[in-house]
Amino acid sequence: MVTKAVIPAAGLGTRFLPATKAMPKEMLPVVDKPAIQYVVEEAVAAGLDDVLFVTGRSKRSLEDHFDRNLELEVALSQKGDLERLALVNASTELARIHYVRQGDPMGLGHAVLLAEQHVGNEPFAVLLGDDLIDERDAILPAMLKVQEKFGGSVIALMEVPPDQISLYGCAATEFTDVYDVVRITNLVEKPAVGEAPSNLAIIGRYVLDPSVFGVLAKTAPGRGGEIQLTDALRDLAMTDPAKGGGVHGVIFRGRRYDTGDKLSYLQAVVRLAADRDDLGPEFRAWLADFVREQR
Ligand code: G1P
Repeated sequence: MVTKAVIPAAGLGTRFLPATKAMPKEMLPVVDKPAIQYVVEEAVAAGLDDVLFVTGRSKRSLEDHFDRNLELEVALSQKGDLERLALVNASTELARIHYVRQGDPMGLGHAVLLAEQHVGNEPFAVLLGDDLIDERDAILPAMLKVQEKFGGSVIALMEVPPDQISLYGCAATEFTDVYDVVRITNLVEKPAVGEAPSNLAIIGRYVLDPSVFGVLAKTAPGRGGEIQLTDALRDLAMTDPAKGGGVHGVIFRGRRYDTGDKLSYLQAVVRLAADRDDLGPEFRAWLADFVREQR
């Protein structure tokens, strides 16, 4: 059974400067909750309450967010503000959180390799902090089922417009007899538009066989001079299932936002705010007026 989730969070967040000069991009709020808390909540909802963050420099506030804050706890208890006290405690009690530091930013594959000691010899999940998957469209449970059925590793795939494929890892696939589950025959990290084998992009959810560690340790730097998880998974796709190989893909058709991209981040904030019971009615009314004025 899969119980551990690894969340790489050592990136510099350069797409969001200057906000990320002194603050990790994972802490950017989506409405009133840091983006990363949605991701941890998603892991926990799928039964993965052992979470390992692979962090780097300037990630102190991320660690503090998942730790107790006694000053706030005391102040809110004294005021009898139990509602806000519950909000403060929610992220502390969410999961069993562990940390490992990635000293050199050598890529996503390198970050995952640093989880080896904590994960040990069992399958585990990787969730990328930039990908916010709407909780109403959760995909991890389906991925865990596919891993149970087929063994090996599982990735989440999403159809993207052909001109966007060069932003993602791209998969060549074959059908299986299960709807929306494919077998991976090849993977390319961020191919040029004309060279992509499909329009199926890897999105940041993975369930990995522990044999990925051995492969990553031997994976040479790839695109951008970084050790790419996509390259290790291509190897695994071509490895004998008896040796932990085989990679399947689950096709995601729900709502997903890239909170590391300004436009997609704004869309996430608007969509989630509009759907909230407390903010939604007033916000939607204002938004409708605003849109009318822009025409
Ligand atoms: C990473 C992966 C890429 C994947 C993407 C999903 O890229 O390397 O294969 O498609 O996440 O968000 P990054 O966005 O970190 O450059």
